[in-house]
Amino acid sequence: MSYFLTFLHSQLFVTPTYPTSDFSNQVLIVTGSNTGLGFEAVKHLLRLNAAKVILAVRTVSKGEAAVQKIVATTKCSPSRLDVWPLDLSKYDSVKQFGARVHTMDRLDGLIQNAGILTSNWETCETHESHITVNVISAALLGLEVLPKLRESAKKTGLRGRLSFVGSDLQYIAKFKEKETNGRIFDALDAKEGADMSDRYNVSKLLLLYYVRILAEMAPLGPESNIIIDNTTPGACKSDIFRDEVGWFKRMVMNVGISMLARTTEVGSRTLVHAIKPDLEPQAHGAFLMDCKIAKYVIKLSH
Ligand SMILES: NC(=O)c1ccc[n+]([C@@H]2O[C@H](COP(=O)([O-])OP(=O)(O)OC[C@H]3O[C@@H](n4cnc5c(N)ncnc54)[C@H](OP(=O)(O)O)[C@@H]3O)[C@@H](O)[C@H]2O)c1
Repeated sequence: MSYFLTFLHSQLFVTPTYPTSDFSNQVLIVTGSNTGLGFEAVKHLLRLNAAKVILAVRTVSKGEAAVQKIVATTKCSPSRLDVWPLDLSKYDSVKQFGARVHTMDRLDGLIQNAGILTSNWETCETHESHITVNVISAALLGLEVLPKLRESAKKTGLRGRLSFVGSDLQYIAKFKEKETNGRIFDALDAKEGADMSDRYNVSKLLLLYYVRILAEMAPLGPESNIIIDNTTPGACKSDIFRDEVGWFKRMVMNVGISMLARTTEVGSRTLVHAIKPDLEPQAHGAFLMDCKIAKYVIKLSH
């Protein structure tokens, strides 16, 4: 099935399963959880008995406002929630976050959900912002938390989970930068001629490659009892499309979104699935779509 048919089938005929796995006693982190999919994922995790969920957010006041909303709607104790600063556009912030994670008694799972989609060229840490935020910092964060996940898994006897939120738009990435004779990252850093309509898709494709390589380098076993996976929530009605656009484009987008997109609550079920304690070991290194290992696979040679 071509990507377009896969996408339409997923959006029109599949509703991700309502999560029911038990997260009792578990400590979890969700990045970018002040809004959108991350926010809804936190609510599911609390309903499923997580002992503590840490909202890792770039603006602490937004995280605190999210906590108030969650407490008001779920009636959970505020002590089950924490807000920690994390800005993926700054490597120092990721490293500081990692240092704080090292002080935790326990960490059972992390959803690397924070991400951006924009058609504007911006740079942070010398790279174009999608590359810094969606790829390099996401990768760095994974490396920062993996030792703590491993240590916890040994201590508790429970398998840890590390999930990266990707996108099925990776399937249609044109990725013309890979044709360069030089380094791919240099090609991605060149503002002139950059195809910003493809950049988000490329960033999620690079994230997929990273997840596969990390999973390959950290096979499931007694030393690394951690499932590392990559998941897509499908197209969802969230704040992800933040760019200013003309009224016509906005109208067309709104019609498309209202016809096809999932609510963030429904989309967030896929995020919770990707870190559920009873996730099948075959998910290690896999791309998950509609709460299943995707059949449509991108080949990777390295
Ligand atoms: N919505 C979709 O249709 C869709 C489809 C496929 C994949 N996804 C992926 O799902 C994830 C969540 O997206 P969403 O739809 O929930 O979007 P969203 O509503 O825009 O939420 C994105 C979250 O990421 C945070 N964030 C952005 N830049 C950050 C940075 N530099 N450091 C730390 N946090 C940062 C945002 O914080 P602020 O609120 O402070 O900006 C926000 O909390 C993303 O990785 C996205 O690529 C979404």
